[in-house]
Amino acid sequence: MKGVVWDGQKAELVDDLSVRKPGPGEVLVRIEAAGLCHSDLSVINGTIPYETPVVLGHEGAGVVEEVGEGVGNVRPGDHVVLSTLGNCGACEHCERGRPTMCRSTFGLRPQPFTWRGEPAYNFANISCFAEQAVVKANQCVPIPADVPLTSAALVGCGVLTGVGAVLQRAKVEPGSTVAVLGVGGIGLNVIQGARIAGAARIVAVDTNPAKEEAARLFGATDFVNPKDAPDQTAAIKAVIADSAPLGYDYVFECVGHPSLIQTSIAALSWSGTAVLLGVAPFGTKAEFSPFDLYLDKTIMGCRYGSSQPQRDVRRYIDLYRAGRLLLDELVTRTYPIADFHHAVEALEAGELARGVLTLVG
Ligand SMILES: NC(=O)c1ccc[n+]([C@@H]2O[C@H](COP(=O)([O-])OP(=O)(O)OC[C@H]3O[C@@H](n4cnc5c(N)ncnc54)[C@H](O)[C@@H]3O)[C@@H](O)[C@H]2O)c1
Ligand SMILES: [Zn+2]
Ligand SMILES: [Zn+2]
Repeated sequence: MKGVVWDGQKAELVDDLSVRKPGPGEVLVRIEAAGLCHSDLSVINGTIPYETPVVLGHEGAGVVEEVGEGVGNVRPGDHVVLSTLGNCGACEHCERGRPTMCRSTFGLRPQPFTWRGEPAYNFANISCFAEQAVVKANQCVPIPADVPLTSAALVGCGVLTGVGAVLQRAKVEPGSTVAVLGVGGIGLNVIQGARIAGAARIVAVDTNPAKEEAARLFGATDFVNPKDAPDQTAAIKAVIADSAPLGYDYVFECVGHPSLIQTSIAALSWSGTAVLLGVAPFGTKAEFSPFDLYLDKTIMGCRYGSSQPQRDVRRYIDLYRAGRLLLDELVTRTYPIADFHHAVEALEAGELARGVLTLVG
């Protein structure tokens, strides 16, 4: 079958990939659509170190083709959004409703694929830039068949991460002031999460002026391009200075850039919270003054929106069907999987909210 393999030198579409049968508790999914998230690029450019060969893609949706022994939550023919977690369901963290903190699966490197006679790794427990994937049953969340899979795919990472960071991790209160640094697929979902949470000011910040239109569509009340500002933090704080001169209640860093991590902390008001979503290159250090934190300020990391995928995917699909969560508008373009490189180029050129690869036909 076809799939995009990163071999440590190049990422290319191959057609000599195979995946093993689903074992007990596993599901074989025919992938129909998969979003290109920056984290896939981060494997290729070394920001996220990963063993090779690895099949890329971790934001997908498709149709259940076959289930292994003991699988009861999905049946062949079901449409599913895939979650990357595959948590054990039995540990203390799973029982406390925090599957993103399950220790027993994070960092595992399954090798369900075979490529040119060698085992190949899956990425983030999924690998959906391939025609088929084998995942754990609890990674499959069934959705109604009338939701377009090209839109549903984006729930699997961008929506769970961005909206979840607002609602589950930071728990933004109505009336808050929120800054969102980086308006890509993650930032747009933070923006719409903040809108759903009832934030009063949602200030989108991006060095690419073309991002303003989408930011406002998703709920931003203001847009700042700090590129030529002599003081980036001052430019971001100036937007709300009329009502909140000390800074923001919440700042979400959605790029993974050390200087923006510093800006996130510096732009906080007293008792404000900086949520770090962007994945900076492994080993990167960021500086801040501890003195800045004494006024009850908080710095939060956030994995995957601190999500509970079986609950949250259903909630987000319901919000989508109620017209309150935008999914179709996240899809700037679809590309047949053969045009993978065009999607990468467009993402790098800042042309996409999300590019979605299609695997059917
Ligand atoms: N924490 C998690 O669980 C999690 C999950 C998914 C993705 N991520 C990470 O989130 C980050 C964003 O992913 P994405 O898919 O939205 O990426 P993207 O490439 O779609 O968007 C990044 C945006 O940041 C903007 N940008 C770049 N440099 C900037 C700067 N100096 N100032 C302001 N804006 C700047 C770009 O113009 C772009 O709009 C990545 O680091 C990704 O690895 C984290
Ligand atoms: Zn992602
Ligand atoms: Zn667990």
